[in-house]
Amino acid sequence: MLTFPNGFLWGAATAAHQIEGNNVNSNWWMMEHAAGSTIVEPSGDAMDSYHRYREDMRLLADAGLNSYRFSIEWARIEPERGFVSRAEIDHYRRMVDAAHEFGLNPTVTLMHFTVPRWMYNDGFWRAGDAADLFARYTESILPIVSDGVDYVCTINEPNIAAMLAGGEDAANLVAFGLPNPDLAVADALLESHKRSREVLSSVSGLKTGWTVATQAFHSTGEPGADDKLHEYGYPRDDWYLEQSAGDDFVGVQAYTRTFIGPNGPLPVADDVETTLTGWEFFPQALELGVRSAWELSGGVPVIVTENGIATADDTRRIAYTDGALRGLHAAMSDGVEVLGYQHWSALDNYEWASGFRPTFGLIAVDRETFVRTPKPSLGWLGDVAKANGLPD
Ligand code: NOJ
Repeated sequence: MLTFPNGFLWGAATAAHQIEGNNVNSNWWMMEHAAGSTIVEPSGDAMDSYHRYREDMRLLADAGLNSYRFSIEWARIEPERGFVSRAEIDHYRRMVDAAHEFGLNPTVTLMHFTVPRWMYNDGFWRAGDAADLFARYTESILPIVSDGVDYVCTINEPNIAAMLAGGEDAANLVAFGLPNPDLAVADALLESHKRSREVLSSVSGLKTGWTVATQAFHSTGEPGADDKLHEYGYPRDDWYLEQSAGDDFVGVQAYTRTFIGPNGPLPVADDVETTLTGWEFFPQALELGVRSAWELSGGVPVIVTENGIATADDTRRIAYTDGALRGLHAAMSDGVEVLGYQHWSALDNYEWASGFRPTFGLIAVDRETFVRTPKPSLGWLGDVAKANGLPD
């Protein structure tokens, strides 16, 4: 048996905009409906999890998981600049309470790509007061996280968020790792993270970090490829992992790898297995991600806050996760401190610019009726959680 430490978090992750539905005051809703949008379809009702979160949590808990990562939607908390909705604060507080009712340790993300429309229109992360606004938003959500929450992720994948902003185009999210990040946005996100962390430090026992998309860039070894690879250091994953020094934990999100040739990233080779997002099936990404997070952050404990694949073949999801967990265990055996594993995703959901087609869920959702059907992979992961380990 490959066993994990006592108290290891076994969970699944989601993000508000991808599952709640009708997130109408967010910049994403606006972009989805903009003329000429390259986003394949709007998010609409999504999975209606705004209303069905208790059912979602119950399914995860019944399977045997003990944690759930979800995000608070800034666009709901502060739909107009300076107006904080007490009803929405209550809503997310109820989610934290429900998680405990079901025996799930909640990990709460404050910003998972989406911001209120007004914030986007007033300059987004380029606005001079962006970090002030994020700090103020963090203060407003303190009642949600002030007790019963051990882990808060301030900003989800700042490296991808900076790329998104760099391309001024949501389609960048599909072209994973390709577009040029906006350096000013990268710096603003770091500043916002630090300000938010400072606000959260008033809550005793709360642990704060952010989550980084580790990207496993590999040089092809051709002349010039190594130089090109170095250009991918700042402000991409390595830089963000280094900035995590001083945090209580670092969230590692790992999916695939990308080869860098002399002219930059290469398309996935024809002869490798790919998933519904077009990414290489590469479970080793997780081990590489946690090892580099541990090294670059100087020994900050890791939580795997996302890992998974989009596939219609659930047996491949199990194979991928099994491989990823074996790699994770190997890294832990070498001394990397890992506090938990949260699979992406609890439910099939809205995969941003790609719409609903890439299915990452442990639970299938009927888009007409919202009926939830757990996939075998949920039972499989739940069994791993209950055993706190994998067969050798
Ligand atoms: C990372 C993002 O945080 C999440 O929103 C997205 O759905 C998954 N990766 C899969 O692309």
